[in-house]
Amino acid sequence: MATAILLVGGYGTRLMPLTKNTPKPMLTVAGIPVTEHQLNMAKAAGITQIVLATSYLSELFTPYFGDGSKWGMQIQYAVEKTPLGTGGAIRNAAKLINSSESIVILNGDVLSSHNLSEQIRQHEANNADVTLHLTQVEDARAYGCVPTDSDGRVTDFLEKMDNPVTNQINAGCYVFNPRVLSSIPIDAVVSVERETFPLLVKNGAAVYGYVENAYWVDIGTPQALMKASVEIVKRHGDFLIAANSVVDPSAQLTGGSSVAPGCQVASGARIQSSIIESNCFIGANAQIINSFVSRGTKVEEGAKIESSFVANQEIVPIP
Ligand code: GTP
Repeated sequence: MATAILLVGGYGTRLMPLTKNTPKPMLTVAGIPVTEHQLNMAKAAGITQIVLATSYLSELFTPYFGDGSKWGMQIQYAVEKTPLGTGGAIRNAAKLINSSESIVILNGDVLSSHNLSEQIRQHEANNADVTLHLTQVEDARAYGCVPTDSDGRVTDFLEKMDNPVTNQINAGCYVFNPRVLSSIPIDAVVSVERETFPLLVKNGAAVYGYVENAYWVDIGTPQALMKASVEIVKRHGDFLIAANSVVDPSAQLTGGSSVAPGCQVASGARIQSSIIESNCFIGANAQIINSFVSRGTKVEEGAKIESSFVANQEIVPIP
């Protein structure tokens, strides 16, 4: 069975100040960290062996995920002293994998409902070197695009352009045949998107696209992070409250809001389209609208917070 490497070591600069004390993949979306959504997705595809490729704030993953047994998985940690880039991270994490089976790589900031089992099946049926999940977007100008031929083979990796030749973009989930790992230099900073993949295609390697347009979101920007959480909560109802959080019956939660574990929400509070991370206290009659409240925050009684990130005692308007 395939093993997975989750790339969770980036700085997440676009989400500052939320990422000052929390790595981007540990940010809460719909009540749980992004990485936990990914573990659930990998598990659903039958994957139980995971390596977390960490670097920035690496020490924050282990207390939460431990050895993975809580999720019925085996989790190992590969730590880069300084970030090695996406390619360097894959090469480094693969040192912990001793298997000839397929390796699934997940970008740690993508939530996707695509059929990972089918992506792996097609990869193996094609005896491919790499198979990338590609998703089709309405306007590909903001992304690099990835054209494929009639057999599904990737023909190019193109940088952002005004007139993209295709609306297929790299969705950040790859299946690798372990034989291609040796094409990534060891202990070096390498970008898999900008260096490894274009080189493999240039050298005639069997690089395939797996095109599927299931729910897909890259939570790397403030707007996308907020939107993703609301959308995921709304699949199940108008709000979500973790089992061990206490919300006063007179408080109102609406618009896809989520309250993570260990929180207390006092009487008359109004929380609309917002993310409340774990162990927060929301005072009586506070109003929180379209905002992200970081773990452990105390929001004063009667406070009004709108379209803001609340982290490290700072309230910063969402850009
Ligand atoms: P920005 O600084 O906001 O661009 O975010 P980022 O640093 O996370 O970069 P990006 O969004 O391009 O990264 C995509 C995924 O790869 C994220 O899940 C990152 O955590 C991960 N990643 C990026 N660079 C590295 C790295 O050097 N090492 C590891 N282990 N993961 C990385």
